[in-house]
Amino acid sequence: MHIVLIRLIILLCALCSPAFCQQPKGDLLIADFEGDGWGAWKVTGEAFGPEPARGTLPGQMHVDGFKGKGLVNSFYKGDGTTGTLTSPEFKIERKFISFLIGGGKDAEKTCMNLLIDGKAVRNATGPNDKPGGSETLAPEYWDVSEFAGKTAVIQVVDNATGGWGHINVDQIVQTDRKPPQLLANAKREFRIEKRYLNLPIKNGAPKRVVTTLVDGRVEVKNDMELANAAPDWWAFMDVSAWRGKTVTLQVDKLPEDSTALSSIEQSDSIKGAENLYREPLRGQFHFSSRRGWNNDPNGLVFYHGEYHLFYQHNPYGWGWGNMHWGHAVSSDLVHWQELGDALAPDPLGPMFSGSAVVDWQNTSGFGKPNQPAQVLIYTAAGDPTVQCIAFSTDGRNYTKFSGNPVVKQITGGNRDPKVMWHEPTKQWVMTFYVEENGKHTIQFLSSPNLKDWTRMSHTDGFFECPDFFQLPVDGDAANRKWVLTAASSEYMVGSFDGTTFTPETPKLPGNRGRGFYAAQTFSDIPSNDGRRIQIGWFQTETRGMPFNQSMTIPMELKLTATVEGPRLTWTPVKELASLRARTHKFAPVTLQPDTVNPLTDVKAELVELRAEFEPGDASEVAFAVRGARIVYDAKKQELAVNGHRAPAPLRDGKQRLTIFCDRTGLEVFASDGLTYVPMPFQPKADELALAMQAKGGNAKVTALEVHELRSAWGAQ
Ligand code: FRU
Repeated sequence: MHIVLIRLIILLCALCSPAFCQQPKGDLLIADFEGDGWGAWKVTGEAFGPEPARGTLPGQMHVDGFKGKGLVNSFYKGDGTTGTLTSPEFKIERKFISFLIGGGKDAEKTCMNLLIDGKAVRNATGPNDKPGGSETLAPEYWDVSEFAGKTAVIQVVDNATGGWGHINVDQIVQTDRKPPQLLANAKREFRIEKRYLNLPIKNGAPKRVVTTLVDGRVEVKNDMELANAAPDWWAFMDVSAWRGKTVTLQVDKLPEDSTALSSIEQSDSIKGAENLYREPLRGQFHFSSRRGWNNDPNGLVFYHGEYHLFYQHNPYGWGWGNMHWGHAVSSDLVHWQELGDALAPDPLGPMFSGSAVVDWQNTSGFGKPNQPAQVLIYTAAGDPTVQCIAFSTDGRNYTKFSGNPVVKQITGGNRDPKVMWHEPTKQWVMTFYVEENGKHTIQFLSSPNLKDWTRMSHTDGFFECPDFFQLPVDGDAANRKWVLTAASSEYMVGSFDGTTFTPETPKLPGNRGRGFYAAQTFSDIPSNDGRRIQIGWFQTETRGMPFNQSMTIPMELKLTATVEGPRLTWTPVKELASLRARTHKFAPVTLQPDTVNPLTDVKAELVELRAEFEPGDASEVAFAVRGARIVYDAKKQELAVNGHRAPAPLRDGKQRLTIFCDRTGLEVFASDGLTYVPMPFQPKADELALAMQAKGGNAKVTALEVHELRSAWGAQ
């Protein structure tokens, strides 16, 4: 044979010898749980159910991150069930076993083990060991190269019955391709030259702890669902305070191939700002935060000619978490300008709800000559959970008091201080929620200076977010009553002697709708105005948007005398009239039974409808507003808003309805404000029609006007 040919053959043989042929072998599927039963897997106990779950189980938070349709989910019948799930024996033939895992984080009780000769040689758990958390399965793997050729089984264990007492697993594969590793403490440094860091967020991704360090010192820690690839939306961190300094973002764990850190942009604008306030589900006259989640309104106060609206804010997530105090200001209660967050989490904990006052007499010493301080009173929800204060003399920059906390923990979970100045006793009075002796209580404390607090008394039967204020009955300054209310908006009317609240009514229902919670009223409205103005958290879910939830419109609260005693009324504030772009007034009309009366001229996206009618012999008078149905049942004297019923008595034989309709909700006022029905609702973009109709008889519409409203987010 030709010598060259022989050499070639020798070379080819050498290349094909095992030492050279390290071609990775194909993956071996151990289980994907796509079948109808457990197959050859052995089940004990009840936790794993009769077959693989198809996603989320009843009563469970949304489960995602699994592959295909089926997965192991031991939340069967809730967390209370236990059991094990064991694979048939298999031979270890690849270097790695990769899998998806979620649920509880207990290495013994909610876990997955690799057993060789009956001994656990590898172990994995879900990420959750405290309330909240996420039901997203995340990729993990074991390096099993040292066990090559051995016989093994996989065992999934649920031996826990309390919170996070379950484990989720899917897609178990033997592979030679090393899955991307999770890097510990991945970080990126930024020399701050611009205002914001824009951060990529993927809803439902595993929550990572992101530590912000400024010139090497830990400033704050936040949980973020960082996007490893394309984000759902961009959050922003305002870093303007650290211009010229080095900010390091450090992530506790990040897959090595994640682009989360490298895609962060330093910029003077918020990414996506060109669409701000024009997003399809942005309430156009309901406040919502530019980015992230909001819940309760906090610290509502009038100061230096501006209304301040602080609020529970998660700047970095679409869901609840990382509680900051967001901050917005308005000169008219209608047009809001969002400022940066006023309070960020600190070593005492996340910033939970609270209130604000103006310290006119400088009792705290935080004021400057002719510049009374605005003082925020909030809960720092660490362990222990304590009440703290912060102050400002410009309504823009806030300093936390160095002597915090000002109220130590009474019992765990105590929270939501609402403070007001009580002129007759010349002291500050705080109401706040405390669970004591197994009861929900509102505690009353007093202070001369906002710093030193003494317990005075308590009232039982109210849960979180109290509010406490005085109102005249029917405007009579000589007949003023105290109102104690809390998150549900139920309330009691009574008297207060500076120490103790004495109820004169039972607990009365507040709002009659849905998605209304944790409302607060403004402090320090000038006495020549004298209104008591309330804003509530409006639970308007906005999927697909870079923000979530909103606030109700501002409403004036009054007490009115009824045969049953004094009752609260809710009225939209008069300032909302500034949004009226076009007004349609209709002549009085008698509605014939069962004939639809379209309001033909009106085609409006944002609607304020005001109607006064006498039901006459009609059994029902109905209004259709952008696909919503607001139906008055004249026999029962009840209002149904999209099927949700509320008592709505006639007043002097008449019913007066005010209906506000925005992109994410309706707010309906009836019975001269005695009935307030907030209702999250998303009208379809092309449903612009309005109509009215009587049933069963004639009804007389004595007044009707419809205002097309303009957006409150004009020039931002
Ligand atoms: C009410 C509430 C408050 C708490 C806050 C935390 O919605 O639970 O009691 O302070 O939210 O965000």
